[in-house]
Amino acid sequence: MKLFFETDYEKMSRRAAGIIAAQVINRPKSVLGLATGSSPLGIYKLLAGWNRAGELDFSKVTTVNLDEYYGLEPTHEQSYRRFMNDNLFNKINIDKARTFVPDGMAKDFEKECADYDGLIEALGGIDLQLLGIGYNGHIGFNEPGDSFEAATHRVKLTESTMAANSRFFPDGGMPEYALTMGMRAIMGARKILLIAGAEKAEIIERAVKGPVTPAVPASLLQLHPDVTIVTAAK
Ligand code: F6R
Repeated sequence: MKLFFETDYEKMSRRAAGIIAAQVINRPKSVLGLATGSSPLGIYKLLAGWNRAGELDFSKVTTVNLDEYYGLEPTHEQSYRRFMNDNLFNKINIDKARTFVPDGMAKDFEKECADYDGLIEALGGIDLQLLGIGYNGHIGFNEPGDSFEAATHRVKLTESTMAANSRFFPDGGMPEYALTMGMRAIMGARKILLIAGAEKAEIIERAVKGPVTPAVPASLLQLHPDVTIVTAAK
């Protein structure tokens, strides 16, 4: 496990964006696993800027996102598909047909989840998976529990996650369920890059130094051979 301690959010974003850019330059056909939330916004801004400047080409890249709220239309302001379009995909030269986010409107969510795992397998797995982390140690929406969930699945969001994310739904209506990639696809990624701002210091400490336990899903990353964690001190 490699750890970078950056002084602030800007430097954390620059370090992480540089790692993603290097991946794309070394392997233009990379499959990138992507995250949403506030943590990666700085990274996406930098990547879009480098693309605009002609320094980074996404034309052959494929992306698979970690998760989507269950019950939100892809066009909903708070859907993760919309987030990705607005913050990254519409700003880079990626082929949108090769950007994948679980379908939060799928009636048959079990089929949608199985298909998503099938898609990741058909793509040959993920080259680089970007992760944020929840205050409760979730990665994707793999919430703390009694066992690690291997497959993509529908999850009931915990109180902690509802409390952390309800700020994005000022008028209410935050979905209680989400579809999330499971631990198998995440742990199967050839490289993992986790970013965590200063507010996540405590849970990072538990995830990195504590026991490997489904009570802290991110602790499983201790068993992955190529994890880079980039944190910010403020
Ligand atoms: C989002 C995701 C989540 C977030 C985590 C941190 O796709 O998978 O695990 O990374 O909830 O969210 P922020 O960055 O908003 O603190």
